[in-house]
Amino acid sequence: MKKIQDTVISLKKINKSFPLEMGGVQQVLFDINFDIKAGEFVAVMGPSGSGKSTCMNIIGALDTPTSGTYELYGRDVTGLTPDELAMARNESIGFVFQQFNLLPKRSVLDNVMLPLMYRGLPMGDRIARAREMLRRVGLEKFESYLPTQLSGGMKQRVAIARALAGEPKLILADEPTGALDSKMGNEILQFFKQLNQDMGITIVMITHEFDIAKYANRLIHIRDGKINYDGKMPRDDRGL
Ligand SMILES: Nc1ncnc2c1ncn2[C@@H]1O[C@H](COP(=O)(O)OP(=O)(O)OP(=O)(O)O)[C@@H](O)[C@H]1O
Ligand SMILES: [Mg+2]
Repeated sequence: MKKIQDTVISLKKINKSFPLEMGGVQQVLFDINFDIKAGEFVAVMGPSGSGKSTCMNIIGALDTPTSGTYELYGRDVTGLTPDELAMARNESIGFVFQQFNLLPKRSVLDNVMLPLMYRGLPMGDRIARAREMLRRVGLEKFESYLPTQLSGGMKQRVAIARALAGEPKLILADEPTGALDSKMGNEILQFFKQLNQDMGITIVMITHEFDIAKYANRLIHIRDGKINYDGKMPRDDRGL
């Protein structure tokens, strides 16, 4: 029997509007539909303001759609309370952001241990796991440094170690290389590629750079809140 691949993310007719200060609403996403299966590596591209982060925030259960259904691992999350959303996030998703979002006054090790706080693991296990994650990103010698003492690429590696500490099946990255030079950006992407290929972690990544997007196998291109391309990674970005 053919194995049916697990659906990780399923968006059906997702609309999102924000209230405007002077009254009325601004609609940002229009009937967005797509599924992402376990083990996929998807890049999301599109002009500034097209709705990429808005869509990612919904996928990451950081925000809810105005209408439509969103299923994460087969579970409808649109109706969950904020606490239930936080649980769903903490259980299965690792986040990586453009600005790293590290706690500046806490050590590298403390930052990586953060997602383990809610897991009820004994302290010794949390430390051991955080150290293992730092080893994976090549920063085991920097555990007692503060984030401010590291380069941009190193900070992003700490953020990735933090994202991995909770052993997520899904990584969501919003412009993970946006604050890095192209050499560091490529290093981070090599690492993502490895996580995807060797550990089967599903990755959804927003980027403005086609050279970065090309590490993914599938491209979703958004324009004015609508999908205008969804398919195999094209050879170049002409025609998008
Ligand atoms: N919390 C919010 N409240 C009101 N409007 C918002 C909010 N978040 C996003 N928007 C609006 O939604 C639109 C899309 O924003 P979004 O951040 O999703 O774009 P983006 O594609 O991620 O752009 P960029 O590439 O610049 O990051 C913008 O017009 C923005 O002003
Ligand atoms: Mg954005």
